[in-house]
Amino acid sequence: MGKVYLVGAGPGDPELLSLKAFRLLKEADVILVDELVLGVRDMIPPGKRVIDVGKSGKEGGKRTSQAEINRLMVELARKYECVVRLKGGDPFIFGRGGEEAEFLREHGVEFEVVPGISAATAVPAFFGIPLTHREYASSLTILTGHGKEEGGAGEERESVNWSAVAKLRGTIVILMGVGTLERNVRRLLEAGMPAETPVAILEKGFTPEARAIVGTLGDIVEKARKNSVEPPAVVVIGDVVRLREKLL
Ligand SMILES: C[S@@+](CC[C@H](N)C(=O)[O-])C[C@H]1O[C@@H](n2cnc3c(N)ncnc32)[C@H](O)[C@@H]1O
Repeated sequence: MGKVYLVGAGPGDPELLSLKAFRLLKEADVILVDELVLGVRDMIPPGKRVIDVGKSGKEGGKRTSQAEINRLMVELARKYECVVRLKGGDPFIFGRGGEEAEFLREHGVEFEVVPGISAATAVPAFFGIPLTHREYASSLTILTGHGKEEGGAGEERESVNWSAVAKLRGTIVILMGVGTLERNVRRLLEAGMPAETPVAILEKGFTPEARAIVGTLGDIVEKARKNSVEPPAVVVIGDVVRLREKLL
């Protein structure tokens, strides 16, 4: 039985791959990659067996279910010494790495997690936004924009406590938050956050199409609509957004 490495590929810039991740790409017998791994794909040595399990969620995009990915990892570990599961950013931050690790443990497959640089922190840095600053924010909350889950009796309940988050008065970073922007902005306004709170939507970081849409809680939904914002994007909410003008 081989070993599965759950490897974080970082936010897309190949130079932000860790040395360990780079070594494992060279040693791997087979690599399962996600679609979000952008320029990093070029770091995979030619001739390696690569299985694309991209789950971009884009319309018409190829999707491999999580169950199928789990099954594949176990099957490949039975055949090969070194199986690399390469995931965007950090495997344990909204990357379902935890679920994959659980599945491997349940099936008796040895695994190791190789952390990666998360888009949650790297994308704001790319756009000149520090997430904490002694004068602007002393806390950081990272959320998923898809923060809903089934409650009892089939009703939906929020998995994110928006009013608690709003009260922290620190920086809020939302991943996967483009489609649900309007709803989430409304939640924060209802929770009492001022409409003047700065917001930045940071689209396609580390790519030539990188673009920042900057506004406030009061006008960001309209600005996002006007500019046809598309995923992937990181949404940053809080006073730290003001630093962008100074630092970029
Ligand atoms: C499924 S989550 C995976 C996060 C990943 N595990 C990490 O730590 O970066 C994907 C989300 O990450 C963000 N993201 C990833 N790459 C990005 C990029 N290059 N530019 C902007 N946002 C990005 C977007 O919010 C996207 O919806």
